[in-house]
Amino acid sequence: MYYQSLVLLYLPCEKFGADDTENSLYIKAFIKDGYNHVYVRLKVGDKLSEVTDKKIINNSQYADMKNFIGRTFVKCAEKIFGFVPPWGISTGVKPVKLARMFVNSYGKDEAMRILTDEYLISRSKAKTAIDACINEDKVVSQLNSNPCSLYVSIPFCPSKCNYCSFVSCTTPRLLSLIPAYLEKVKKELSAVSELIKSCSLKLESIYIGGGTPAILDECQTEDLLCCINSFFDVKNTEFTFEAGRPDCITYEKLCVLKNMGVERVSINTQTTNDEVLKSVGRVHTYKQYLKSMEMAKNVGFKCINTDLIAGLPDESYDSFVKSLKDVHSLEPENITVHAFTLKKSSQYRINSSVDIRRDMSAKYMTDFAAEFLCERGYLPYYMYRQKNTIGNLDNVGYAKSGFESIYNIIMMGEYHTVFGVGAGSVTKIVSQDKSHVDRIFSPKYPYEFLDDSKYSGFDINKCQGLLKKGDSFGKE
Ligand SMILES: C[S@@+](CC[C@H](N)C(=O)[O-])C[C@H]1O[C@@H](n2cnc3c(N)ncnc32)[C@H](O)[C@@H]1O
Ligand code: SF4
Repeated sequence: MYYQSLVLLYLPCEKFGADDTENSLYIKAFIKDGYNHVYVRLKVGDKLSEVTDKKIINNSQYADMKNFIGRTFVKCAEKIFGFVPPWGISTGVKPVKLARMFVNSYGKDEAMRILTDEYLISRSKAKTAIDACINEDKVVSQLNSNPCSLYVSIPFCPSKCNYCSFVSCTTPRLLSLIPAYLEKVKKELSAVSELIKSCSLKLESIYIGGGTPAILDECQTEDLLCCINSFFDVKNTEFTFEAGRPDCITYEKLCVLKNMGVERVSINTQTTNDEVLKSVGRVHTYKQYLKSMEMAKNVGFKCINTDLIAGLPDESYDSFVKSLKDVHSLEPENITVHAFTLKKSSQYRINSSVDIRRDMSAKYMTDFAAEFLCERGYLPYYMYRQKNTIGNLDNVGYAKSGFESIYNIIMMGEYHTVFGVGAGSVTKIVSQDKSHVDRIFSPKYPYEFLDDSKYSGFDINKCQGLLKKGDSFGKE
């Protein structure tokens, strides 16, 4: 498995089969004359590369040996592909977690050395991971005791973007389920509020996400938010509404959000290039994004976030740089830069119309974003990597100081329990010592969520049992 993950560093989305005669990888590790040796032979098409390396590894530590094999593999693969992957040989571990291991034990400078020399991570990525780790720790240290968070899923969209695989109902028949869906969500919110009270938990953050929550009309939005206000102490809680696509946003809806205590909104464009917006199937223009941002500024939210995607099909480096500069000129408090992922059930994957293997263009985009934003007072505060991502890159949330999203940090780092309400959501119960997480999945699709014969609603008893089992509450 480790060897396959090494290959995926260079060829995301590659499939492995015994009958592949074009490509092969052979790795041998052995001890000779007191040295650990690693021999790697890699064949890709008609290109062959071989490297042998030796090193003394005291006590043959598993991690050191694994890293030695990884580095030898990269030396070998670099001769064929011509580059070292941005995240070097790090696979399977969250970048911030990896950075924290070394920052906590050896300090920032030594952590930088280890990440760059021993894991071959680029300086830019290592700096992002270390900064995100420090920023994340600062936010987490300020949280209340017995905290929890709430996620409300609105899995409906006006249409489907070609790159997206999130559950998002777009047909008129499925959109007609929204009123019934909201009624059931309200019942679940009542159950969660009961649970939170009975366990004396403190709600730290609420996140209404999608899909496209701004697809709800004003009355529906008001009704949902009224319900949330009636159950939870919204004033003392970070409250985010992922409005999403500008084509669904109106001034009136934004006013409803503001009046109901929402302080953070996400208004996304992904790119400001109208041709790219069209080609990726996003049915809005840059102008609509500008208009939505202007309205949100006028309404006066504490924090606005905009999502961008680096490496979208048909987007050049120059176009991405322009997108980032366009978004930055509006000064949102948060900018999240995702790297394009070829998601399994996206239109692009289904049609096999996009190939991200060997495409390193997005690395320069994400490096530019890191440098540009950090020079202008934004700092990375959460980050994660996903499979099948262009250049094996990452998703990074940047924030002006003091505007980091607690919810995003908690979700990624699994720092405390998050109750998930609605179709496609997940309740994650984190044990008091944070050593394990129990997950309860809601039905994936709204029509399943609404089927009372198959799904009876948020299971308070199960959650209570898991919270007690892990002793997740009741302790300071
Ligand atoms: C859950 S989606 C919802 C956002 C909202 N519906 C919108 O489109 O503005 C959150 C974010 O994930 C990112 N995303 C979705 N699919 C992606 C993909 N295939 N590759 C990279 N980022 C992706 C986008 O930046 C998107 O804004
Ligand atoms: S990117 Fe957003 S709007 Fe587009 S389909 Fe996905 S969730 Fe819906």
